[in-house]
Amino acid sequence: MRSIAIGLLGAGNVGCGVVQLLRDNHDAIARRVGASIQIKRVLLRSPGTRRPIDVPAEWKTTDPADILADPEIRVVVEVMGGLEPARQYVLEAIAAGKHVVSANKALLGTFGKELFAAAAQRGVSLHFEASVAGGIPILRSLREGLASDRIEAVSGIVNGTCNFVLDTMTRMGASFDAALAEAQVRGLAEADPALDISGVDAAQKLTLLALVAFGLRVDPQRIPTEGITRITAFDIEAARTLGCVIKSIAAARVDHGRLLARVHPALVPMHNVLGGVHGTYNAVLVESRALGRSLYYGRGAGMMPTGTAVVADLVEVCRAIIGLGDRGTGVDELAAIVDVTPASLDDERHENYVRVTVPNVPGVLGQVANCLGAHGVSIKRVNQDPRGPGLPVEMVVVTESVTDAELRAALAEIDGLPTTLAPVLRLRLLEADPLD
Ligand SMILES: NC(=O)c1ccc[n+]([C@@H]2O[C@H](COP(=O)([O-])OP(=O)(O)OC[C@H]3O[C@@H](n4cnc5c(N)ncnc54)[C@H](OP(=O)(O)O)[C@@H]3O)[C@@H](O)[C@H]2O)c1
Repeated sequence: MRSIAIGLLGAGNVGCGVVQLLRDNHDAIARRVGASIQIKRVLLRSPGTRRPIDVPAEWKTTDPADILADPEIRVVVEVMGGLEPARQYVLEAIAAGKHVVSANKALLGTFGKELFAAAAQRGVSLHFEASVAGGIPILRSLREGLASDRIEAVSGIVNGTCNFVLDTMTRMGASFDAALAEAQVRGLAEADPALDISGVDAAQKLTLLALVAFGLRVDPQRIPTEGITRITAFDIEAARTLGCVIKSIAAARVDHGRLLARVHPALVPMHNVLGGVHGTYNAVLVESRALGRSLYYGRGAGMMPTGTAVVADLVEVCRAIIGLGDRGTGVDELAAIVDVTPASLDDERHENYVRVTVPNVPGVLGQVANCLGAHGVSIKRVNQDPRGPGLPVEMVVVTESVTDAELRAALAEIDGLPTTLAPVLRLRLLEADPLD
């Protein structure tokens, strides 16, 4: 049987999963591909580091040229992460005529256009299934399963760390800090979890989802993005009394040719399918014209789940190498995609949860209600949580459906009131069940 040599840039969490899958399932994968996939070299920073699985000494190197300049190596698997030197190595691999598989959403989200153009020009593949929602084959489903359909919206939970933190706050009554510390102890959050909890990681993934779903590329930095750092145990409890849980949602849709995209925490009704996504699980809801709504659910991170997505890409690339398939990712198409600026969210309508911190004195509710009313925002429900004499009150207002622009103007006014003790928190309320 023919053999195809590959090189790995990195063997951390994901890389070790790839090594293990290629080792454990070698024969079955070889039958599917029609060739034996052989790891030849693995680039590491510290070859002496203990790893979850054994990486043979003869594979290990600290010199990228051992992979990038080796003509026998046909496919480079980039699982090192970060922007540089990953970008430089991927460009070198492409220039050397090697196909590339990457799990790196930061790299693809930021430099995708340059990398797709380079791959298209050189006639090689650039696959990136593992970069969005870990083990869930969402990009392949969008690209192949829904190839005949027109996708109109994608939304869901694409950051397992945020979901774990919010879920732990909900289920254990933990504070945000305690839930985040628990995620770190379990190895689910990075030592520096800023990219996750700020929503930046989800915005990078949303860029890739929109790219594949709609053929539109938006700079992740231009996606309106809110993190989960301001969510408190009070909000979790207030959401519960409204029959909701708080989830970090990434959503994009095309409306009359305009791309609307956003990442933010939201109140999700408990019986909504996204409300039932627990722990580190991810779920992506797709709305397409012919199929309607479909849901893709599974583990969004971790050594083996993410490894399966990388190896699935490898199988596709290697089948193309031996002439059993095409190049698959449509890099030519992706390279031709034009950048778009996300449309303003001003006219989007939602019901909202608004938390206002005010002193426990008469007349404050009236002031808040006046600010809302002045901008056409109707109140559906109000709750006040007096903590005791002299202590501030957390006032929760649920609004009727209102545009973003109207609500923003009203909240700016409330933030400007001399009685408002902390910046107002606003969370959108999602619809009851998008799969109904
Ligand atoms: N972890 C997940 O669940 C997950 C899920 C989806 C996507 N991803 C993406 O997959 C990629 C890898 O993630 P990971 O969790 O596997 O990362 P990781 O555990 O930190 O592993 C990174 C690997 O790359 C090597 N490396 C990093 N910089 C290097 C450099 N400059 N030169 C040589 N080697 C270098 C490291 O070598 P040493 O081991 O010697 O330090 C390590 O083996 C990232 O882009 C991440 O966003 C991860």
